[in-house]
Amino acid sequence: MPKGKVAIANKSFKMLFKRLYATTVSTRLSSALKNTDLIKTNAFVNGAWIKSSQGKSFPVTDPGAVSGSGSVGANPDSDPHLATVQSMEAQDYNDAIKYAESSFNEFKHTSGRYRSNLLYKLYELMHENKEDLATMITLENGKPYADALGEVTYAASFFQWFAEEAPRVSGEIIPSANSSNRIFAMKQPIGVCGILTPWNFPLAMITRKLGAAIAAGCTTVIKPASETPLSALSLAYLTELAGFPKGVVNVLASDDAATVGKLISENPIIKKVSFTGSTNVGKLLMKQSSSTLKKLSFELGGNAPFIVFEDADLDKAVAGAIASKFRSSGQTCICANRLFVHESIYDEFSRKFVEKLKRDVVLGHGLKEGVTHGPVIHDRSMLKVRSHIEDASEKGAKILLGGNKRPDLGENFHELTVLGDVTPDMLIFQEETFGPVAPLIKFSSDEEVINMANDTRVGLAGYFYSTNVSRVFKVAEAIEVGMLGVNTGAISEAALPFGGVQESGFGREGSKFGVDDYLVIKGVVLGDIV
Ligand code: SIN
Repeated sequence: MPKGKVAIANKSFKMLFKRLYATTVSTRLSSALKNTDLIKTNAFVNGAWIKSSQGKSFPVTDPGAVSGSGSVGANPDSDPHLATVQSMEAQDYNDAIKYAESSFNEFKHTSGRYRSNLLYKLYELMHENKEDLATMITLENGKPYADALGEVTYAASFFQWFAEEAPRVSGEIIPSANSSNRIFAMKQPIGVCGILTPWNFPLAMITRKLGAAIAAGCTTVIKPASETPLSALSLAYLTELAGFPKGVVNVLASDDAATVGKLISENPIIKKVSFTGSTNVGKLLMKQSSSTLKKLSFELGGNAPFIVFEDADLDKAVAGAIASKFRSSGQTCICANRLFVHESIYDEFSRKFVEKLKRDVVLGHGLKEGVTHGPVIHDRSMLKVRSHIEDASEKGAKILLGGNKRPDLGENFHELTVLGDVTPDMLIFQEETFGPVAPLIKFSSDEEVINMANDTRVGLAGYFYSTNVSRVFKVAEAIEVGMLGVNTGAISEAALPFGGVQESGFGREGSKFGVDDYLVIKGVVLGDIV
């Protein structure tokens, strides 16, 4: 072929390849699922699957397959690309918000029983597809399959819970000071809600918010994290199957979280924003939404204390500490972040803690049989993990277990790490690690440990182990957090009022209080009752 023609052929091939790549779902993703209808890469707006108005898209990758060498534990298929998802633009979000507004005008009149039935249907559909949904979570988030399956069940349980709450949303009649008046406290859905969710629970953080919004009679515009949009889009597909009216659930992915967060916060049609993510982003969204004075519920960062008193059942405390600290490789907002151990049991606790981790942990790709812990989500998480370990080591902490990256498994793998002799001057004491590092801190009295536990501006979750009933009450009252696990490291369930205090945010999700965040109370005075 002449030179010029080769160049043109090459160019066309490249363009074709680019187009194919932009619309293609990897075979790795499609062959991993039984029901490939769950794989969606467009946005779901007003009941239709649409592309970005500007033709933009972004890749979604498997954090467990980034540069793995294929050795033990790594995914033999080391191509991390899963799919290319449409990146929706400001115009697309504004359109979706308008659709959500017009659908709200009808949806707000539906009965609680009708909305309950929709939520039950969605709950059932999630269970019918739970293996596929779990596989998708593992692929885009990295958590081991068993944990991902646990997340699907947990996520679906919010639909079950709020299906039960929906028909029970009711107001009150309040006696008036004037005997010929009656006061009604009428509960009404607040309106269109913006839902902004993180990557660490690609389904459960949506369902906990969406379930409550639907129970209340609100419509929604959801932006999932750009790391994990596939699970969110598959959920949108299930709402379609469940028969949700169009415009009630809109799911739009984007790789520009800052622009979308601002748009959702400032758009006057949106009446409420629910956000789970970092404290810094929460502060920004609060500032941005002040222009329209929206109702907000924020579940933000934590720095959870986990206290083991000298009267604790040590084996149970060890198991609870591992469950709480290393769940999802330390990447949950309620993971124990600082482990305080009484000096009289410190050596025995740390020995048992390290021995159990050595015995039980298998690090590797989440779809591999027997793997208990997966990668961190991306290089930024890895940098934080490394900086906490390095800072603590320089300031005198001892590495009791792990301490290293595992590049043989992939770029995002890090050993589960235990640091001993950690002190309050270390970064790991002051900041949330959001990774697989457990710092052990010695204490000698209740007063000292309560002061240390409260020495933070955030307060999401906390944990302690003690068999002394008086101590249980006194410490439970003194720890400044929104949620507390006493003699357990696993607190999450739909019935728990989930949320924090101080700079961990406000509002409660799940539980019987969760719907309140999506309602407004109208006071109606009925006069002239004679
Ligand atoms: C979170 O990490 O934000 C949620 C954790 C949970 O619901 O258990």
